[in-house]
Amino acid sequence: MTVNAAERPVKVGFMLPYSGTYAALGNGITNAFKMAIDEQGGKLGGRDVEYYSVDDASDPAKAVENANRLVKRDDVDVIIGTVHSGVSMALSKVARDSDTLLIVPNAGANEVTGVICAPNIFRTSFSNWQPSFAMGGVVAKQGHKKVVTLTWKYAAGEQMVAGFKESLEANGGEIVKELYIPFPSVEFQPFLTEIASIKPDAVYVFFAGGGAVKFVQDYAAAGLSRSVPLYASGFLTEGTLEAQGVAAEGTHTTLHYADGLDTPRDNAFREAYKKNYKLEPDVYTVQGYDAAQLLIAGLNAVKGDIADQKGVIAAMESTKIDSPRGSFTMSKSHNPVQDIYLRKVQGKKNIVVGIASKALEDPARGCKM
Ligand code: PHB
Repeated sequence: MTVNAAERPVKVGFMLPYSGTYAALGNGITNAFKMAIDEQGGKLGGRDVEYYSVDDASDPAKAVENANRLVKRDDVDVIIGTVHSGVSMALSKVARDSDTLLIVPNAGANEVTGVICAPNIFRTSFSNWQPSFAMGGVVAKQGHKKVVTLTWKYAAGEQMVAGFKESLEANGGEIVKELYIPFPSVEFQPFLTEIASIKPDAVYVFFAGGGAVKFVQDYAAAGLSRSVPLYASGFLTEGTLEAQGVAAEGTHTTLHYADGLDTPRDNAFREAYKKNYKLEPDVYTVQGYDAAQLLIAGLNAVKGDIADQKGVIAAMESTKIDSPRGSFTMSKSHNPVQDIYLRKVQGKKNIVVGIASKALEDPARGCKM
């Protein structure tokens, strides 16, 4: 018996890191995505859901091959991926060229909703420009004019430093030294020694996952947290606070989410996630949950007929996502238009100090759609 195409399950493919420094991020995204689908009785637009997955290990060299496993071997209807900016650029090109619906639940590569933008590519996370641009002005206005930056040398780190620099300079500050360490190295010592000798007004970094835990501990152990205030994009203190302990205390970050939001919507999400997975939710889980919410909006509009890609896309473009982070809409280039919070670590929580940028929209440089 052949299965009617309109009745067969929707095939969802996860291309995410399940090993390496970003493994916890990939797992959190997957868990929360499935939780949102389970809240719909396990259905998407009335249809059953079948999951496929590939561990991309945050390795750009294998990205095309991994993406093609889902597209060609598994013939999935939609890909949820990925975390690493370099991998996401290759994945986006495969999705664009094969017309496969793609929802990016983390990777911030500006190009994904910039020069590589396409009708079938959406992002429920952020662009690398967004949280970092929001921070440059904050640092300068707090009186820190001479700043050293340190990050992994790959697209995410480079683009976050660029976004930060843009608004730091516009507010009268300057980067006196840009330091880069290969991804995913955690040999921070020589860089910390250099920062101590430069004695800048502040340090701005991007690290995430396992590497973020080690960086914050090393920064404190070097005695720098007492003499040079640490600023970062909020990933530094997402899913890491338990392991970082007191070393993270007082760190200021900017991000489109905070575990200290304390809204009814976020509290309900956090309780449900903790109950289901016995783990603390974080920004990655929120982004994974919202990837599912976006897909649900798309498939409900066409009653599960994912072959109606135009209908799915139109619904995804116009929906307002009731996110734990606060509700958001999609920009023309399919990136969230969202508030960026200024947060401070206090007692193992990211407390909201204020809103650094209201309804911030990525400039989508180079996107023609
Ligand atoms: C990225 O590579 O785009 C990336 C990875 C981890 C994060 C944020 C951005 O926490």
